[in-house]
Amino acid sequence: MELLPQRLSPLVVLLLATPLFVGAPSLADDATSSLHPVVLVPGNTCAQLDARLTDEYEPPTPGCGMPKQGRGWFRLWDNFTALQEDPALLPCHADQLRLVYDPVAGDYRNMPGVKTRVVSFGSTRSFRFDDPARKNVCMEGLVDALEGVGYREGANLFGAPYDFRHAPAAPGMASKVFSDFSSSFKLLVERASERSGNKPVILVTHSMGGLFTMVFLDRTHLAWRRRFVKHLVMLCLGAGGSPLNMWPLAFNAASPPSSLPGTVLTYGNRSFASMFSLLPSPKVYGDAPLVITGAKNYSASNMAEYLAAVGLSEEQVALYRTRALPVTLDIRAPLVPMTSINGVGVPTIDKLVFWDGNFSAKPQLVNGDGDGQINLQTVLALESLIRAHPDQGYFKSILIPNTTHKGMISDEFALKRVVSEILEQIKPPHDTGTLIN
Ligand SMILES: *[C@@H]1O[C@H](CO)[C@@H](O)[C@H](O)[C@H]1NC(C)=O
Ligand SMILES: *[C@@H]1O[C@H](CO)[C@@H](O)[C@H](O)[C@H]1NC(C)=O
Ligand SMILES: *[C@@H]1O[C@H](CO)[C@@H](O)[C@H](O)[C@H]1NC(C)=O
Ligand SMILES: *[C@@H]1O[C@H](CO)[C@@H](O)[C@H](O)[C@H]1NC(C)=O
Ligand SMILES: *[C@@H]1O[C@H](CO)[C@@H](O)[C@H](O)[C@H]1NC(C)=O
Repeated sequence: MELLPQRLSPLVVLLLATPLFVGAPSLADDATSSLHPVVLVPGNTCAQLDARLTDEYEPPTPGCGMPKQGRGWFRLWDNFTALQEDPALLPCHADQLRLVYDPVAGDYRNMPGVKTRVVSFGSTRSFRFDDPARKNVCMEGLVDALEGVGYREGANLFGAPYDFRHAPAAPGMASKVFSDFSSSFKLLVERASERSGNKPVILVTHSMGGLFTMVFLDRTHLAWRRRFVKHLVMLCLGAGGSPLNMWPLAFNAASPPSSLPGTVLTYGNRSFASMFSLLPSPKVYGDAPLVITGAKNYSASNMAEYLAAVGLSEEQVALYRTRALPVTLDIRAPLVPMTSINGVGVPTIDKLVFWDGNFSAKPQLVNGDGDGQINLQTVLALESLIRAHPDQGYFKSILIPNTTHKGMISDEFALKRVVSEILEQIKPPHDTGTLIN
């Protein structure tokens, strides 16, 4: 989710920068050829986005119109180096990152005159960022760990970054960007399989990548899924969003963020389609108060009132209700063998308290259990909905104690466990059950 990227102290950055040693033994070449191809689908904000401006673009300030190198493609997200060197670019990048909803097309699009593209679709090469605060949030540690056991980029290891500003929409509604992603993803899985002697593929997702993948799978033919997907390993995602995601929506966006460490959502001025995708689900949270104020409480069931209270327009609230909420309510068992791996034992926001009803102030936080971003409650909700499906077949849920949302894809202990679960899929599946550690 990474909606609230945290600045790390230089010391922590230094420690994280030391190469990870993953203890699983390297496989010999003949064993390597028995590996099933892996496609990684990272979390929110992990794709790098390039942009290009056309004459149609109306810059918020004159300096924003003409990037230094002329009219070609440049790195819009995440261009940490440029923003460090020239903070005056921040409002430009923030403006160019925004989405607008086009009621005629019934879809979100870029600002007029802004063209964007996802960098390096198909590969994991774009999972590394030049921003030290974003180290290890995008599966780069998992890439290293998989390479350590014999996986090779482009041969049997692939990446499916997506434009995280967009999101799957309710059936029948247009979401061109998600549809295009789905087509590319499908082709990638087929090519990956082809390159490995037609072996079916293991999909490994982190955080919001899991949502995109679940919706993608749900919209493919079952025969395709069964032919091409060996296994889905889903890291750090439950079925019901997270109360944490209500917080960045509350930030008053009247003035532009003063620095990049503000949430990406603030940076995009609360304009992304995806900002509604991981809001708490009424199916999981019902009427439980999630945002508490002296005068009124807000729950997953009256989310629309909350969105209006924090200042979103009627149109935006309607987009939540009609486009995003039906997707959240309709999460279904993928009907391919699946392992769900989540962290527990880390304080995870359960409720936000704004006593005086000032949503721009820092709330008091009430914590529950989870990985720091995803609540255990939603993990269990996912598990029960998947187990309830008579056609699901193999399903295993693993809870790793003391593992954070980011730690799952960067802590040595967690990585070892994740890699061993991926390698496990080379063998025929056996029993199912929930394992603690
Ligand atoms: C980062 O952004 C600046 C300003 O928009 C641009 O000049 C530069 O080329 C970008 N960096 C990359 C790697 O594209
Ligand atoms: C952010 O969006 C609001 C409308 O939703 C608009 O009034 C405001 O001017 C925008 N701020 C910036 C910096 O673009
Ligand atoms: C809001 O929820 C809190 C905690 O459950 C409860 O104590 C309080 O009475 C509720 N307030 C209102 C206005 O319903
Ligand atoms: C709300 O909180 C913000 C941030 O603490 C503060 O700047 C602002 O003045 C507050 N607004 C009111 C009406 O109290
Ligand atoms: C989790 O971490 C805390 C603090 O570092 C430690 O006291 C506790 O023993 C750990 N628990 C497990 C199950 O590893």
